[in-house]
Amino acid sequence: MAEMNENKDIYILAIESSCDDTSAAVMRGDTVLSNVTAGQAVHEQYGGVVPELASRAHELNIVPVVDAALKNAGITKEQLSAIAFTRGPGLMGSLLVGVSFAKGLAASLGIPMVEVNHLQGHIMAHFIKEEGAEKSVPEFPFLCLMVSGGNSQIVKVNSYKDMEIVGQTIDDAAGEAIDKCAKIMGFGYPGGPIIDRLARNGDPKTYTFSKPHIPGFDYSFSGLKTSFLYTLRKLVAEDENYVEKNKENLAASFEATVVAVLMDKLYKASKALKIKRIALSGGVSANTALRAAYADFAKRYGWEIFIPKFGFTTDNAAMIGIVGYYKFLEGDFCSMDKPAFTRTVL
Ligand code: KG4
Repeated sequence: MAEMNENKDIYILAIESSCDDTSAAVMRGDTVLSNVTAGQAVHEQYGGVVPELASRAHELNIVPVVDAALKNAGITKEQLSAIAFTRGPGLMGSLLVGVSFAKGLAASLGIPMVEVNHLQGHIMAHFIKEEGAEKSVPEFPFLCLMVSGGNSQIVKVNSYKDMEIVGQTIDDAAGEAIDKCAKIMGFGYPGGPIIDRLARNGDPKTYTFSKPHIPGFDYSFSGLKTSFLYTLRKLVAEDENYVEKNKENLAASFEATVVAVLMDKLYKASKALKIKRIALSGGVSANTALRAAYADFAKRYGWEIFIPKFGFTTDNAAMIGIVGYYKFLEGDFCSMDKPAFTRTVL
């Protein structure tokens, strides 16, 4: 792979539209030149992503976002070598906008297309290079905890395209559980950053919520969410201002339980597979307590940890571009008849 990375004349436009972020990036080789993302505030009032509104917003955003990505990179579309795009998993209406745009632009420019799995993109975000910045990348194989709004998985990464799911959630994702906890407390969407902020001033030992007992390396978060709901219902019945008075401790205790559950299975997987190179990815990897737990486990168990830069943790097109680049080098292109897909395994 080191040899391949020296090729700097390949320009790839990457497009990501799997959920509620419209993102476009330009890569020169494995280096990101631009990474432009338009979020969608329209969902805040509904407490979650509304698929139809997401695809309409993608329709509005896709042209200006791609235009800005090309301008910020200082190149024209005629200089592009290929277009990489998220083919799935995600919301069908959202994916269709990015997939159709990628197909149309690739056809009009007469350049190849590279399809990318969104989840592989999250994991490969660790390999994105930035101009003028030194970066250490994980050696294969490594374990990656992939935690986002839609997924919670422990993945054994053997190469950029050979990935095995070691464990995964059997119900809710970690981010989904945190978002629901925020919603139960009456906060906005997405709740993750709100819970994170509140938790910094709270005591994580104030409340005990029941932890799941799932065999192997799989996760479950729906019981924890219900435990939080029932605890809160009882307390609010006695004092209607309970949440307002105790929001920091509630957030800290819930967050600490989610982090403990995530780290417990990750530790067990690391021990069983004898792998101490441990990466973190997905939107929840922005969480302060989870990052602190990684640092703590690194010290305690000699883990070599890899935590992505904030801008590459949430949905963004640079992570699609890095996978696109490696696939491009292998001539792994996709044809026009490939449809978007909503669910997949790695
Ligand atoms: O990877 P991502 O941007 O989108 C998906 O593909 O799902 O992840 C979004 C998730 C949301 O659940 C959001 O609340 C959570 O990541 N999140 C956080 C934090 N920032 C984002 N969760 C906890 N703490 C944070 N600081």
